[in-house]
Amino acid sequence: MRTCIYSGTFDPVTNGHMDIIGRAANLFDEVIIAVARDNYKNVLFPAEERLEIVREVTAGFANVSAECFSGLLMDYCREKNAAAVIRGLRAVSDFEYEMQMALMNKKLNPNVETVFLMTGQQYSFISSSIIKDVASLGGCIDGLVPPSVERRIKEKYALLRP
Ligand code: COA
Repeated sequence: MRTCIYSGTFDPVTNGHMDIIGRAANLFDEVIIAVARDNYKNVLFPAEERLEIVREVTAGFANVSAECFSGLLMDYCREKNAAAVIRGLRAVSDFEYEMQMALMNKKLNPNVETVFLMTGQQYSFISSSIIKDVASLGGCIDGLVPPSVERRIKEKYALLRP
């Protein structure tokens, strides 16, 4: 059984992530989405909520599951006996950071391959941050995130508004 890990902050999951998840699910027997618990990022959704959202929007995939993880990604891969980690590449600007991470991860665990999937071009300009930025100012994010995520983001900002 070939298992891959798709890791990220997923604050929140976007249609760009969904595109990568669907394609990874076609390539591997099992996809584990690893939601980073501790991160340097200032998050809108706490880890348990990010996990709940990911589980909700991937419920239709029989071979996709999700968990929170902390510590080194390569230790987590060892624990899960994963053959690969999946990374989405959006633009050339992603490359330098991705190469550095892939090489460091290879040094930490030579048994795990990093597999890059090109993000669908209709999603190549999005990130979780830009979606939150636009939504926080009342802009339209229709079609960029799953409908339940759009609702949750709007609820979050309505609560945060003074
Ligand atoms: N479509 C749209 N957006 C995408 C995308 C896609 N296909 N792929 C990535 N993004 C966005 C993400 O939403 C994120 O946006 P944001 O910065 O606005 O939040 C951004 O691109 C970066 O995503 P990603 O590269 O997945 O980084 P991340 O910060 O979410 O997660 C970890 C990074 C958690 C995977 C990484 O830091 C890690 O493995 N940490 C564990 C500790 C470790 O092992 N460190 C050593 C690594 S060598």
